[in-house]
Amino acid sequence: MSETSIFVTQQLPPGGVELLSSSGHTAQMRGETWPIPRHELLTAVPGLGGLVCMLTDRVDADVLNAAGPGLRVVANMAVGMDNIDLVAARERGIRVTNTPGVLTDATADLAFSLLLSLARRIPEGDRMVREGRWRGWAPTLLLGADLVGQTLGIVGAGRIGTAMARRAAGFGMRVVHASRGEHPEVGPRLELEELLASSDFVSLHCPLTEATRHLIDADRIKLMKQTSYLINTARGPVVHEPALIEALRSGRIAGAAFDVFDGEPAVNPGLLDLPNVVLAPHVGSATFRTRERMARMVLEDAFAVLEGREPRYPVV
Ligand code: GLV
Ligand code: GLV
Repeated sequence: MSETSIFVTQQLPPGGVELLSSSGHTAQMRGETWPIPRHELLTAVPGLGGLVCMLTDRVDADVLNAAGPGLRVVANMAVGMDNIDLVAARERGIRVTNTPGVLTDATADLAFSLLLSLARRIPEGDRMVREGRWRGWAPTLLLGADLVGQTLGIVGAGRIGTAMARRAAGFGMRVVHASRGEHPEVGPRLELEELLASSDFVSLHCPLTEATRHLIDADRIKLMKQTSYLINTARGPVVHEPALIEALRSGRIAGAAFDVFDGEPAVNPGLLDLPNVVLAPHVGSATFRTRERMARMVLEDAFAVLEGREPRYPVV
């Protein structure tokens, strides 16, 4: 492969494919629509100039070493960066970029739709209708939670957390947050423990770091209201899933919704048979327009670095 060649680890949306083929760069896109197996990634990278990867690709020192000294940029088609060893990239002088901002609204929409699905038990009702178990209107059928006047606790008031807060305000909810910064536009800032104890819905929007791994563990879940719901659209390992499953099973909290899982796409079997759980397959940013924009961003930044220009969305 020539020194400036680019490899893309999965099929991009049409706009990305066009941009790639008209770029003048030597490029190869893996045409599959599922994550690249580790051995294939290690086989694909030697000699590359640019790697366009997905959040499912672990880009660690082994991958960077396999790529060799020609690798100048790793462009991650995600806002989360927990799949990339940023220290190893920095040490090797490799630029790393991501896709902040464009997926903020789409991801907040998904988080809020999970909140509504939980509160109003839409997946439970859907299953009841499809399975022929619906016997007609009843005063007690599938009662759920109101939103108006309820408290939403946002863990991590970054771009997505802040967009989630705006949606909640439109539904008449009170919003509080636990974050590093003050973010007065989101609502009062509380300690995490205080937020967990006072929220009716808790929505996670923090990145996965060593500090947030298992942030929501058995001790913290114990602080939550028995009527409360947890929504995780951040990263699976932010929640200690066995502790959460135990809390759901024992009625310690009312329900939970997940777009991300620890060890995904494997899903803890304990989640599958709980009626008060809503599951989505990591689709926070999955809208036509957002994915087109994300594809364009990663490609343009990869081209920029390979052409000796500054990328627009550098992380390293
Ligand atoms: C999705 O999870 C992302 O980080 O973009
Ligand atoms: C995403 O855009 C975030 O940083 O919250």
